[in-house]
Amino acid sequence: MAALLRPRGPFGEYPTKLYVLPQVRAVPVPQLHILRMRVASPFEALKLPDTLKFLEEAICHFATRAPVWLPWVYVTVRHGDIKELGDDVWHVDGYSMRTPHPPEVDYIWSDHTPTEFLVGRFEPPAAFNPLKHDLALWLQSRAANGHVFQGEARCWYSLSPYVVHRRPAYASAPRTFLRISFLPIEIVDDVQTQNPLLEDRRRPNGFRASLTRLCQ
Ligand SMILES: [Fe+2]
Repeated sequence: MAALLRPRGPFGEYPTKLYVLPQVRAVPVPQLHILRMRVASPFEALKLPDTLKFLEEAICHFATRAPVWLPWVYVTVRHGDIKELGDDVWHVDGYSMRTPHPPEVDYIWSDHTPTEFLVGRFEPPAAFNPLKHDLALWLQSRAANGHVFQGEARCWYSLSPYVVHRRPAYASAPRTFLRISFLPIEIVDDVQTQNPLLEDRRRPNGFRASLTRLCQ
């Protein structure tokens, strides 16, 4: 198996609550649904469409603190209606990537019904192959062994790929969830949202859809 800088657990870390908080201005439209839109590349200026300008202060705040090995910046916005995207089951962010890489850093924020966290020690068995098996499915099967707590609304949290979390299933619309991600590699899959100010380099990637449950 190719290997090696892929996060391998144990999973179940606490997130980091941030006490120095960049402000979040109001989202300028009633509905905005963006998944991992690239807004910055190494050595290039921030490229923000007008609808994302409300996040500029927060992005710059975190970008000036990001380590040099995480130069790719992505934004996720789920604002307005709640769409069923599988984010209400236990999962981690920045794990199921075909290319092994050092851990990314994500900053998340919710206006209400904030993210829940599952804390414990979740170590996948040796037979777990990240190129074949779905980590989220495995985490569901072990969740009873962990401790659940909920973050605070309107508060930024920093997450590594070892932090297990989910959107509370009872969250009601309208709701705003924000995520700013700092990565060491470029994402070029076909489910991310294209930034109209940047070249479209997306390509088909059925990798994640092919993952299965590890029966163990
Ligand atoms: Fe997530």
